[in-house]
This record gives sequence, structure tokens and C-alpha cells, in this order.
Amino acid sequence: MRGPRLAGASAIVTGGGSGIGAALSRALVAAGAHVVVADIDLAAARRVVEEVTTTRSGPGAGSAGAGSAEPVHLDVTDAAAVSALVEEVVATRGKLDLMFANAGITWGGDTERLTLEQWDAIIDVNIRGVVHCVHAAYPHMIDRGAGAIVLTASMGGLCPAGLITSYVMTKHAVVGLGLSLRAEAAGHGVGVTVVCPAAVDTAILDKGELDGFDGRYFYLDGQGVRRPLDPDVLAASVLDGIARNRALVIEPARARATWRLQRLAPGVMDRMIARYVRVSRARGSGNADARRTADR
Ligand SMILES: NC(=O)c1ccc[n+]([C@@H]2O[C@H](COP(=O)([O-])OP(=O)(O)OC[C@H]3O[C@@H](n4cnc5c(N)ncnc54)[C@H](O)[C@@H]3O)[C@@H](O)[C@H]2O)c1
Repeated sequence: MRGPRLAGASAIVTGGGSGIGAALSRALVAAGAHVVVADIDLAAARRVVEEVTTTRSGPGAGSAGAGSAEPVHLDVTDAAAVSALVEEVVATRGKLDLMFANAGITWGGDTERLTLEQWDAIIDVNIRGVVHCVHAAYPHMIDRGAGAIVLTASMGGLCPAGLITSYVMTKHAVVGLGLSLRAEAAGHGVGVTVVCPAAVDTAILDKGELDGFDGRYFYLDGQGVRRPLDPDVLAASVLDGIARNRALVIEPARARATWRLQRLAPGVMDRMIARYVRVSRARGSGNADARRTADR
């Protein structure tokens, strides 16, 4: 089974106002799709639409360049709003070919510091938000016998990691949902692809800190890389993965090697992860000030 043709496709990208969602929107428009850039931050969605409809270059850009985009305010935790958006897109465009459930948040730091409100917030956005997208879009795709659902999980959905436990929990849920739904969806002609990147160069690396947790340093140092992945490079790989109806898009190659190690030697990974938590705590639980002092 091949994924939907991108030229002329109708797509919704949640969390499209920044980072990976913006890069996906850019690549889709460049390939000739119509993209609804949906974000809780409407101003950010507007900026992305302005940018992707005037600039069509970079690794994610195809030769078509004939796509279009529109900004929409959407809070993925609001199930009725997600359903209403899908209905509107189906009514106005006649179909929904691609649903990107991409919006996400994170918390970084020792688990005992998380409040119940923070646990609820990450479950609401990262799990319920994705469920709302599937619940709203999947029946339309079944009716047409076509389409693809693309869930942005993370390497944290495939491998455990200390100090980002709530995030890892939600991303494991997304991987479980996507890979299971995929088995059912194939019989309806609908594709499901789960995106599992390691660190990507977006704003999320600097968000969600508890007590000075330095996410950018934590992720890059933990993954043994100097630079996070370019979101446009990831977006190009995701579109290729959708075309081939791949179950998983794992980027970069180093992340695929880490996943292999996790499956072949979980005990080794368990010890490596515990050691990294100890190292991070020793420099101040990944604390930015302590780290900067230590680096001097
Ligand atoms: N950047 C990385 O290193 C990385 C790695 C693996 C997975 N991811 C995942 O990629 C996805 C996109 O993250 P990003 O890196 O582009 O981060 P980002 O912070 O740059 O973008 C996230 C976007 O989601 C939006 N958003 C947050 N809550 C929302 C809500 N309730 N409803 C609608 N929109 C909402 C934000 O306004 C923002 O525009 C997330 O699911 C994230 O977990 C990121």
C-alpha cells in the first residue's frame, strides 16, 4: 500500500505553529498539499502560513510548490474542537487525506517534583490530544478507504529515559496506539505512521524545565550528539515514510542504533540510563547553572 498523493492532498498539522509541525507544513505545501496549520498559538500558526506560502525552498521542498495553507486556532485537548475542525475540512475540501497529530509538550526533571496538574497537562496534550485526532479523522478515512494518520511520538516512545518520565510514558502510549491501529487500518486502505525522532532543533528542547533542568544539554549530551536534527530533514523523511506507508520513521541513524540496542540488550540500556541519571544529577539534575559552571 502506498500513502496518499501529496499534490492536491488535504492535511491538518496540529502543533503546526512551531518546530516539527512547521517543517511538516513547509514540506507539504512545497509538495502541493493544502495544509491546515493548527496550533493553540494562533499567531505562531499565522507566521508559519505566511512563511510556507512565500518561501518554498530547503530540503523539505519539492518541485511542485503549488500548495496552500491556512492558520487555525486549535487546542488538541478540546475533543469537540478537534472534531469540528475535521468536519469543516471535510466539508470545505471534500476530504481529509492526512492527519498529523503532532502537538506535544514536555517536562524535564526529577519525577517527584511533578505536580498532578503537570501530569494531567502532559497526558491531556500528548495522549488525549492524539486520541482526539484519531477519533475525529479515522472514520472519514475509513469511509473513503484512503488516507494516512501520522503520529509524532519520539525516541522516548521506543526507549526508556530517566528525568523525562512523564514525557516517555506519553510517547510510549502514542507508539502503542499507532502500531496497533496500523494493523486495523490497513484493511480499510488507511496508513498509519509513527514518527520517532531523537533530538530535533526546535523550541521544545528549551521548554518544560523543572528546577533548572537544561533540556537541550540533557538531550544532546545523553544522545551523544553535538547538534540536534534539522526539522526540515526530519520532515522530508516523514513524507517519504508516509509514501512508503512505513510503520515507524526513526531519525537520525544513531537513533535507530539506540533502538536496536534497547531490543537486543535491554539490561545494558537499563544500566546506561541509570548512569546518565546519576551523571545529570551530579551536575545538578541537569541544572543549567550548575552545568555552565562545570563547563567553565
Ligand atoms: N524537538 C524534539 O527534539 C522532539 C523529539 C521527539 C519528538 N518530538 C515531538 O514533536 C512534536 C512537535 O514538537 P516540536 O519539537 O516541534 O516542539 P515545539 O515546542 O517547537 O512545537 C510544539 C507546538 O505544539 C503547540 N501546542 C502545544 N500544546 C498544544 C495544544 N494543546 N493544542 C495545539 N497545539 C499545541 C505549541 O504551541 C507549539 O507550536 C511533539 O509531539 C514533541 O513531543 C520533538
